[in-house]
Amino acid sequence: MVAQVLDLGVDLADPETFTRGDLGAYWRRLRQEDPVHWHPAAPDRPGFWVISRHADLMAVYRDEARFTSEQGNVLVTLLAGGDAAGGKMCAVTDGARHREVRNLLLKSFSPRVLAPIAERVRHNTLRRVARAVLLSECDFAAEVSEHIPMTTISDLLGVPESDRPFLVDRAQRALSSHTAGQSEEDGWSARSDILLYFADLMEERRGHEADDVISVLANARINGVPLSRDEIVLNCYSLILGGDETSRLTMNDVVHTLAGEREQWRLLREGAVGLDTACEEALRWATPAMHFGRRALVDAELHGRLIRAGDIVTVWHSAANRDETVFADPDRFDLARTPNRHVAFGYGPHFCLGAHLARVEITALLEALRRFTSEIEVVGEPARFHSNFLAGFSRLPVRFTRDKAQLSAFAAELRADR
Ligand code: HEM
Repeated sequence: MVAQVLDLGVDLADPETFTRGDLGAYWRRLRQEDPVHWHPAAPDRPGFWVISRHADLMAVYRDEARFTSEQGNVLVTLLAGGDAAGGKMCAVTDGARHREVRNLLLKSFSPRVLAPIAERVRHNTLRRVARAVLLSECDFAAEVSEHIPMTTISDLLGVPESDRPFLVDRAQRALSSHTAGQSEEDGWSARSDILLYFADLMEERRGHEADDVISVLANARINGVPLSRDEIVLNCYSLILGGDETSRLTMNDVVHTLAGEREQWRLLREGAVGLDTACEEALRWATPAMHFGRRALVDAELHGRLIRAGDIVTVWHSAANRDETVFADPDRFDLARTPNRHVAFGYGPHFCLGAHLARVEITALLEALRRFTSEIEVVGEPARFHSNFLAGFSRLPVRFTRDKAQLSAFAAELRADR
């Protein structure tokens, strides 16, 4: 049986695998027959383990002592043999140092600091969606979703308004090295521009206490010792890495899904399902970060398979979020689903720091859609993201049917605010 699964010839390291079609049947088979699956080596890369069940994902993530993030937490860096940010950036640091730096970052993610940022997210999303609905047709990715996460991250970092176009431009170039026409060197140079920019801001903010992430990190001390320059700059950059594309892809996915799920759209629009459960289902359905990974520090046994010290272990959120032992009718998009124990944000010590903010963004989008449009149609071929890590659409041509009364009421609100 296992050999048959291997014969399916699915190569999870190859980004093309995810653009070719739905892997639902493959994941179902792995969950049921080979939950700790050995993905064989290829001439250009070593083999790695593939974890597909929800319970096993949680077991690996909570066990930092046996499964480390410090040598990389995604397939690309794990296969390359390590992550230069290991031990410096929160997401790829373990143990006491991880907890200390994460606690510092949490100060900027407290409800008090986030409240005004969340309010701006709502307002910005309403404006962007209203504008998109007024166009006869548009690329939703370019008109709406591209603009929301980076504005939010810039607010968190305290990036001055005048520097934002620069940061957005560099972030796009740094992150879209998988897009056609984008060279690897351009990606590297954009990344180094961002790191240098954060290094300058960090110097400016030393000695000036404030709630934004750069100021918090620049002025923090752990056991009396300031953070290193690399720690500060890389942790600022990690918000862009963690929060931009993941949120954008979820927004694009929910618009695409709602266009095809008319009954669910009707329930949402009529208020028959709540925005909170709808947001969770949108996250489960999209699962924009398909996997994360770890390296085994010691030999470990799981379901009778021996994972050897040094092996790469990949954990597939896209498989765990369809686990039939956890989700009733997992392949059904159900905006009223409760409970919904999805693992789109991971689990354990590295659970997503931006989860609340991402939920604010998705909820704001759902709220704006149901307010301003009565119908969503996909009017052209969407373009899929080319990656073995992130899933979703990079272009999504849509047509919205206007709710004229709501749009006029919103325009009146905006005039009254001026
Ligand atoms: C960690 C997913 C949005 C910042 C993670 C992890 C996942 C995840 C699965 C765990 C990684 C691991 O275990 O190795 C998502 C998804 C998002 C989202 C699906 C949107 C839908 C955000 C946002 C931010 C953010 C908006 C910040 C503005 C981070 C950071 C970490 C993280 C800093 C590392 C936490 C740590 O290591 O302690 N995210 N994320 N994420 N995320 Fe998110």
